[in-house]
This record gives sequence, C-alpha cells and structure tokens, in this order.
Amino acid sequence: MERRTFLRLSAGAMTLAAARFLRAQETSGPRTLRQAAAPRNLLVGTAVGRGALGDPDMARLIGEQFNIVVSENDMKWAATQPEQGRYDFSHADQLVAFAESHDQRVRGHNLCWHADNPKWLEAALTPQNAATILEDHVRTVAGHYAERIHSWDVVNEAVNPDDGREDGLRKSIWLQMLGPDYLELAFRTAAEADPKARLTYNDYGLELDNSGDDRRRKALLKLLHRFRKKNIPLHAIGIQSHLSGSLVPPTWKGLNHFLNQVHDLGLEAYVTEMDVNDLELPADIPTRDRMIGNLYRSYLEDVLKHPAVKAVLTWGFTDRFSWLNGLQRQRPDHLPKRPLPFDADLHPKPAFDAMVEALTKG
Ligand code: XIL
Repeated sequence: MERRTFLRLSAGAMTLAAARFLRAQETSGPRTLRQAAAPRNLLVGTAVGRGALGDPDMARLIGEQFNIVVSENDMKWAATQPEQGRYDFSHADQLVAFAESHDQRVRGHNLCWHADNPKWLEAALTPQNAATILEDHVRTVAGHYAERIHSWDVVNEAVNPDDGREDGLRKSIWLQMLGPDYLELAFRTAAEADPKARLTYNDYGLELDNSGDDRRRKALLKLLHRFRKKNIPLHAIGIQSHLSGSLVPPTWKGLNHFLNQVHDLGLEAYVTEMDVNDLELPADIPTRDRMIGNLYRSYLEDVLKHPAVKAVLTWGFTDRFSWLNGLQRQRPDHLPKRPLPFDADLHPKPAFDAMVEALTKG
C-alpha cells in the first residue's frame, strides 16, 4: 500500500490496514525452503523414510518445502536386492514418482556401503565373485533409475584412517574382497549405467576442527587425487553433516579449506544428511531449539559461501522421525531429541528459520 493512501484512511480503518500492511511485510520473504533456495539455484531437500508419503500432512509438507528428496533406506542394498538376484524397487519407485509429480529432484543413496547390506551378501561374497556381484548390483540399480537421479552416492563411507591403512581406506567387506579397486569399479559401472547422474562420494566426519576429522579430510583428499589421476568418473562430494549440538563455539576452518580444495578439483559438494544431535543440550525446549538453530545457521552460512556447495539436505525433516531417536545413544533425561527443522507436530523451528536465512544470504 502506498504511504499516502495509508495516511488518508480513517483511524479505525487505519488500524486494520496497518495490520494488513505489517502482515504483508512479514510474509513477503520466502515462506518455504524451496522458495528460499530458488534465487541462487540451490537444492534443498530431505531424506524421506518409508511411511512418510502415506501421511497426507507429511506428504504435503515434503512437496511444499523441498526441491530434492532422498530415500532414507529404500535405495540401499538391503532394500533393492533383498535376495541374491531378486531386485525390489517398489518402495523407492513410489518416492521417485512423488518427486517427479512435485517437480523435485532425487538423490540416490547408495550403491556400495559396508552397512545396511542384506545377510545373504556377506555370506555369498568371495574374492572371486565380488566384482561380478558389485557390478551387477550397480548396473541394475543405477540402470533402473537412469536419467531420473540428480546424484548417486556411488560409494558411502569408504574412508576410515582409524583402520590403520596407509591409504586411509576403511577395511570394509568390499576392500577385503577386492582391494582399493572396488571404488573404481563402482564408479565406472555407475557412469555406464546412468551417464546423466552426478556421481558422488559420500562420507561423515569431514566437518569439525579436530584432529580426527582433519585426518579424515586428508585421507579423502588423497583419494580424490587418485581418482583424478586415474580419470575415474566422479562429480561431487557428499558431506553428511551429522553435527553435535554441544559444539561451542563452532568453527569450520578445516572444512572451509577442504571445500576450497574440492572446488579446485572441479568437484561439487552437497550437504547430504544434516541434523543436530542434541544429546547433551539443556532440556528446556525453547533454549534447546535456539541452540540447535544457531548451529544450523553457523554451519550453513559458512558452507553456502562456497561456490562448490550446490545442495543442502537434512536427514529427515520432522522430529517425529529421526534416526537419532532410534539406534543412537539417547538423552540422559529420556526426552526425545529435536534434530530437524520441523517439530513433531510439523511446525517450523528456529532451525527452519536458520535454513531460510542461510539459503537466502550468500
Ligand atoms: C540410517 C537410517 O537413518 C536408519 O533408518 C537406518 O537404520 C541406518 O541408516 N549415514 C548414512 C545413512 O549414510 O544411510 C544412515 O541412515 C545414517 C548415517
């Protein structure tokens, strides 16, 4: 409303008009994460657990808020090849169809990992058959979704300097069967099966300024250089970003340096699984939510300054469902954790506001 018109209104009407004006001002900024991400062409997304799409309120929120989704478990080996040679895409197909009807991209997670594998796999693997089994799986799963996946986590969590190898690689079942070449096999096969997908290496423990994460970043950079030398198709690094709320004050020097190097190598970077574990934060909910929100803001404002960073996904969106309330250590007061941008009733929290601000800035 123009100021002159505004002044000419009668006293009673003015109150009403002023209220409307203020409300319009308040809502003129982005009201959803995907609106906040649009001007900078960023992707913002969430992991979606089985069952979420069956709840109309959760499905509506996912459709409204995000422009990319990833299945929390349904593209993992245990879900897609539950028995040797029998593939099952029924659950993941539902998510991909939902995404396509809501103008959303899809991340694929994941093709090769040491965890969430079906029992038969570890029983069946031998150094003789492992390459064929891996190749068959990657070709079939990536082939099934060819041209429909924004980025595939081709290999998940292959680095673990604590395992004591000089190259810093994890002594996973794949490494034991095939040696370090399993990575190359997985990436080359994925590139053949879906030449359009951005092939991603995804890992945790890359975020913090401490010696453990420092070693992990160094080992990963070595691996990336080896990939480049051998011309192995790789387009992006996934930084899981499972943060802990007890980080005070948070600093991201090592990560900044790492992201510069990733960019110099011509790679993109995605925040793939962000959440904040409030294991040790105070019980009081407004205090806790504020601290969690502040960590979201600090982290995202920092990483989103980097031109390499193109996507931010949280590992779930509502505190109603988070893996941190499952297998992980629970709070001593037994209160449920609050790691995500929406509370259990699907209301936005300070972490949501922090995401909107960080996505908008830049
Ligand atoms: C977790 C899921 O959230 C759980 O439901 C499942 O039981 C175990 O896996 N890093 C990853 C994800 O790459 O696949 C993990 O997801 C969380 C840690």
